[in-house]
Amino acid sequence: MKRVFIHTFGCQMNVNDTMRMTEALASMQYAATPTAESADLIILNTCSIREKAEDKMLSALGRYRQVKLQRGALIGVGGCVAQQEKQKILDKVPYVDFVFGPDNIQKLPEILQRIEADRVRVVETAWVDSESYVFPQADPGTSRGKATEFITVMKGCDNVCSFCVVPHTRGREVSRPFGDVLKEASALTTVGVREVTLVGQNVNSYRGGVSFAQLLLRTAQVPGVERVRFTTSHPHDLSDELIEAFRVEPKIMPHFHLPVQSGSDAVLKRMRRDYTVEQYLERLKKLRAARPGIAVTTDIIVGFPGETDEDFERTVALAEQVRYAGQFSFVYSPRPRTGAAMREAEWGTVEHAVKVKRLDRLNALQKRISVELNAAFVGKTVQVMVEGPSKTDASRRFGRSGQNTVVNFDGDAPAGSLVAVEIGHASASSLSGRQVRVESLPPVMIPEAAALVPESCVVA
Ligand code: 5AD
Ligand code: SF4
Repeated sequence: MKRVFIHTFGCQMNVNDTMRMTEALASMQYAATPTAESADLIILNTCSIREKAEDKMLSALGRYRQVKLQRGALIGVGGCVAQQEKQKILDKVPYVDFVFGPDNIQKLPEILQRIEADRVRVVETAWVDSESYVFPQADPGTSRGKATEFITVMKGCDNVCSFCVVPHTRGREVSRPFGDVLKEASALTTVGVREVTLVGQNVNSYRGGVSFAQLLLRTAQVPGVERVRFTTSHPHDLSDELIEAFRVEPKIMPHFHLPVQSGSDAVLKRMRRDYTVEQYLERLKKLRAARPGIAVTTDIIVGFPGETDEDFERTVALAEQVRYAGQFSFVYSPRPRTGAAMREAEWGTVEHAVKVKRLDRLNALQKRISVELNAAFVGKTVQVMVEGPSKTDASRRFGRSGQNTVVNFDGDAPAGSLVAVEIGHASASSLSGRQVRVESLPPVMIPEAAALVPESCVVA
């Protein structure tokens, strides 16, 4: 048996791709190993969303060079940077043996065979066109013992947000047929998974035979699935039908990640986001009416080219008004071949120190709001899906509330249980309490029976 170490950068899409790489390599007798030093094959699954992610990958490559010198390990670069910068990687990093794009994961065994047979460097970054793309089917064995798992429902993005590199690295949108998604959800329940998160770059424009709202509702009906989540959405595709799904299906968890990016219409226009602040707020109002108490989180970019103090103040005012449960804020970084990078000189670069100041202000604001929102749970009882021992204190348990807040608690329920936790303490990032009741234990597994998807779930 040979050993493979995969270093994953970036988003959940990449984490899922890494799992599929591990499964593809198992057919070549490769087993996963937790350290690069013990590996015969090292793969970097890269992210290019911001410059920082790319820098991190380059410095990791430098470290792995030693392993190559000492053990003769093969080194491969996959993911978004590989797709966009294949030539640069090959030219600049002579010890990289192969480069492959996100569409070529299933070719990994073939790539390795070619390297072994011909001792050549291999590049596989061709797009597979939308009609013939087949999503890798997950092996449920990889998820054994996990209460919660992610399912890829689509890839790529047809939007043209001017800051974003994703359409260049992941290509056109392709949706996975809904029957395959439901089968995967069902297969995951056979190894103990009770919560699934449907993932894609832009899930609201899912077109896999049913609407995205229908896909959520059908996933919620798969026997053994107790909770359903999804990420990521674009506000301009947030349909009334999806909002209605939140009203009628309690298994869809009360959390919505709805990236706003900016609170200024002028900036949103240059970002090519296709909505105004007013339209965004109108969607949110409807969503909150359909599911009172829903937690809304967002992404914000500060220092986008041409962002003035007034533009930024509008973003602060929006964040105050919406009172997000969580905020992922980033300093704008120009990405190759994107619209904003090409027009930055015309729109005006925001000074780095100004960007950092704006980011600090948003983060401080979010901390205050998160503390206030979480404090409201103290003395209340919330339902938690247990994921395992607490990461901060192994004698305690940890899970997530419906709103997706981390809850650490004193208790004994096994992973996969749904428990009631009385909250005694809150911080900006988590809640803490004690288990007062077990609401349901994970079911006994009968793999053969549970692998079947009932007809009601797959009929369009
Ligand atoms: N610079 C900074 N942040 C970016 N994001 C995407 N592209 C850039 C960029 N060029 C952020 C957006 C997106 C999140 C995943 O990353 O906020 O929603
Ligand atoms: Fe990037 Fe915009 Fe597509 Fe999101 S919707 S992946 S930000 S282009």
